[in-house]
Amino acid sequence: MAKDINDKKNVAIKAASLVEHDMVVGLGTGSTANYFIEELARRQKEEGLKIVTVASSIVSSRIAQGQGLEVIAIENVTSLDLYVDGADEVTDDMTLLKGRGSDLVREKLLAKASQQFYVLVDNSKLVNRIGEKFPIPIEVMPFAWQLVLQSVEQIGGEGDLRPNASGDGLAVTSHGSLVLDMSFDDDIDGHMLNHQLNAIPGVVEHGIFANLATSIFIGANGQIDQRKKLAD
Ligand code: 5RP
Repeated sequence: MAKDINDKKNVAIKAASLVEHDMVVGLGTGSTANYFIEELARRQKEEGLKIVTVASSIVSSRIAQGQGLEVIAIENVTSLDLYVDGADEVTDDMTLLKGRGSDLVREKLLAKASQQFYVLVDNSKLVNRIGEKFPIPIEVMPFAWQLVLQSVEQIGGEGDLRPNASGDGLAVTSHGSLVLDMSFDDDIDGHMLNHQLNAIPGVVEHGIFANLATSIFIGANGQIDQRKKLAD
């Protein structure tokens, strides 16, 4: 019987193999990031890899600590060597859509502060345009949600507040923001929308990550394709 191929795990192992001693490593959130954390912990245990980590969410912090990795608070970090995370969508120009895990502001802070940002995906995440498969998550200050919703509707968005997992309340981020999930027409330009959302007061952060990824590792049928950002 053919062995099951796990492309998310394969790209995570590949990225973890590139981590070097004494690096400060940012940990993403989600199933692919969890494989990366697992492999880092294995390398620490079996190969004596010495690193410190910074987590993008309480969930990844708990997983990393549970596996024996040292996790330092984001407040104590001024720069990172490497941030590694998954994504929900990736376009040809390496723009990402992220945020099914809600904690966008931490993810974008780590991506921006890091020398290298590796994005780990399987090929189901490749899209022609941002917003093709998922709504755009927009993290908002709780008291601002109606005004932000109105501003996003004015630029063509449709959507509502994200419900919590049990569907009987609202999703709340680890620092108390609410999340709007907003869909746009097929002809939206991800870069333009990025700028438009950045300019709306009350938006804490949103899921479009433009010009941040330095490498994308794409797993497909056991093979890994690496796309690198061209020098600025
Ligand atoms: C969390 C994210 C995740 O990286 C994204 O949702 C991908 O998740 P997975 O690795 O489970 O497919 O952006 O906010």
